[in-house]
Amino acid sequence: MMLLGKTIIVTGSASGIGARTAELCAQLGADVIGVDRREGGPSLSGFIRGDLSSQAGIDAIVGQFPQRIDALCNVAGLSGAPGAAPTVAVNFYGLRGLSEATATHIRPGGAIVNVASIAGYGWRANLSRAKSMVAVTGFPDVAAVLKDHNVAEAEGYPLSKELLLLWTQLAAHQPRFRQNGVRVISVSPGPVETPILGQFRQVFGDKRVDDDIAAAGRAGTPADIAPVIAFLCSDGARWINGTNIAADGGLEAAVNAQALGF
Ligand SMILES: NC(=O)c1ccc[n+]([C@@H]2O[C@H](COP(=O)([O-])OP(=O)(O)OC[C@H]3O[C@@H](n4cnc5c(N)ncnc54)[C@H](O)[C@@H]3O)[C@@H](O)[C@H]2O)c1
Repeated sequence: MMLLGKTIIVTGSASGIGARTAELCAQLGADVIGVDRREGGPSLSGFIRGDLSSQAGIDAIVGQFPQRIDALCNVAGLSGAPGAAPTVAVNFYGLRGLSEATATHIRPGGAIVNVASIAGYGWRANLSRAKSMVAVTGFPDVAAVLKDHNVAEAEGYPLSKELLLLWTQLAAHQPRFRQNGVRVISVSPGPVETPILGQFRQVFGDKRVDDDIAAAGRAGTPADIAPVIAFLCSDGARWINGTNIAADGGLEAAVNAQALGF
């Protein structure tokens, strides 16, 4: 009962990784409140139907949160198939807005766990663009921000995760989180068998997805990712902060070997 007595919010709880994370956190003793734009997923202590793609949507969701929570798991995301602007809006600016609005609800020692992706691997190579886009505060006109930064339509998904990986490291040191004793961490899955994987095949092509699955040894399942998120919410992870944990069967190691030549 690693999470006994904790109150944990899980976004994206209606499907895939979020559904399994919510279910597992509840099995480990937490009161879990799911958030999703559609119904579904496991039966939980609470469920808030809401949309993370606008500030108004975020405000409506946070207004229903309990006064004190222990962890926010930011799992909801889009594949890129709906377009770059909606994808960056949900995967980065919406996630950040929800996290910022939730910070004061989180108890000291609590955590914000962001589901990023191996797809965000390019954050260092594209650092100046990522810095500039993360520096845009609030919930911006995302289409205008993408235009200002010359972002191609196909870059929406990887870019959203590059921004998230950079922001996770920045947020861990921001007073808003740090002074409240809130850890901010990311988890980067490799390819995982969920409905989004079919969309990745459309966006990135079968070859890219199949190559990633081959490098990882097999496709993952939500059950490969949920325990990592649950652990990061627990007190056992109390000194893990501002970092990224790959849960990808070794895919990042293979990408490093290729990119860095070892
Ligand atoms: N499956 C993979 O291969 C893989 C790999 C790396 C990272 N990820 C990341 O894992 C996370 C979860 O993906 P998944 O594989 O479980 O996909 P999924 O499609 O099964 O689940 C995503 C959930 O997010 C919800 N959602 C989307 N937009 C929303 C919005 N605006 N407001 C509220 N809820 C919204 C959806 O309704 C859905 O229930 C995503 O952030 C994704 O980028 C997935």
